[in-house]
Amino acid sequence: MSKGVTVWFTGLPCSGKTTIADRLGEVLRGRGEKVERLDGDTVRKGLTSDLGFSKEDRAENIKRVTFVAKLLTRNEVKVLATFVSPYIDRRQKTREEIGEFMMVYVRTPVKECIRRDVKGMYAKALAGEIKGFTGIDDPYEEPVNPELVVDTDKETIEESVQKVLAEMEKRGYL
Ligand SMILES: Nc1ncnc2c1ncn2[C@@H]1O[C@H](COP(=O)(O)OP(=O)(O)O)[C@@H](O)[C@H]1O
Ligand SMILES: [Mg+2]
Repeated sequence: MSKGVTVWFTGLPCSGKTTIADRLGEVLRGRGEKVERLDGDTVRKGLTSDLGFSKEDRAENIKRVTFVAKLLTRNEVKVLATFVSPYIDRRQKTREEIGEFMMVYVRTPVKECIRRDVKGMYAKALAGEIKGFTGIDDPYEEPVNPELVVDTDKETIEESVQKVLAEMEKRGYL
């Protein structure tokens, strides 16, 4: 039977988490895998729409997502979770709770993220119009021992997707 796993993408806003995981999801579905996407933007519109961006609320956001990811993972689903998830301690708890877990650090320099600025949020944060924006005036704690690092300023989207697929295979999830 196909094994469930949560592949957890962490990184700065605009680092490429959503883009890479969406493409990976297409590839996995094409192979007949059961896939679910959990994405920060969509989760915050529904499941956690009552939460903001304080350290406590960010942790609560990830706590609820972890609960959902755990249920899916134990039902042989490939869960592709894409959250800034800036704090090491909360990511570590998520890893322990889910068990079958792989962390992918989407390591894009903040300068490149600012250049991409997909939704114009960096511009607002730099202008002081929004406070507590990760990478500008809120911390991002880099992963210490992620299963995989992707450098999107040096790799194409397809190359990053292939790296994640290879790592999933190596770890027996495909
Ligand atoms: N190698 C790459 N991997 C991922 N995204 C890339 C890459 N090169 C350029 N991009 C672009 O960077 C942007 C990343 O945005 P997004 O995936 O929404 O980031 P996040 O979900 O991390 O906030 C997209 O516009 C994407 O097309
Ligand atoms: Mg995203």
